[in-house]
Amino acid sequence: MEKRIFLIGFMGTGKTTVGKRLAEELNWALYDTDHEIVKRVGRPIPEIFATDGEAYFRQLETAVLTELSAVPQAVITTGGGAVLAAENREWMSKSGFVVGLQAEVAEIVRRVADDPNRPLLQADDLSERIVQLMETRAGLYDFAELTLPTTGREIEEIVM
Ligand code: S3P
Repeated sequence: MEKRIFLIGFMGTGKTTVGKRLAEELNWALYDTDHEIVKRVGRPIPEIFATDGEAYFRQLETAVLTELSAVPQAVITTGGGAVLAAENREWMSKSGFVVGLQAEVAEIVRRVADDPNRPLLQADDLSERIVQLMETRAGLYDFAELTLPTTGREIEEIVM
């Protein structure tokens, strides 16, 4: 068994829910890159984006991911944009088993609607915004060794 599992996927694909359950099943530690960033900076994500910009957030994301890539027996959930940097994709592939989660746009809209904590999804037409952002990330989640759809599926079906 590999030392760690990374969960990747667009926002709202279920990484947090699946990661929590997977860590419980395996009795492994659970880490979340967003959570680690907030802990480190002491400010919530929308504030980091607003004050320091996305580029700064991405630097923190890479730093946190690099550190977590050394933690044994861990399930690591990542922010949807963690796959943007080639360096991050390489780190994950090299140091763990990468699982990609997918969901349909309408399902993502349902899951993330009215969430003030996702600065990249503050848009009037949420569905259009998600489609646009997904297009800019086309192919970037494909390096996952296993890809699981989560739309309309119960957590048991996904994790077991
Ligand atoms: C982002 C996804 C978010 C968070 C930040 C940026 C992205 O995490 O890292 O708002 O660029 O897709 P979740 O995927 O957990 O929502």
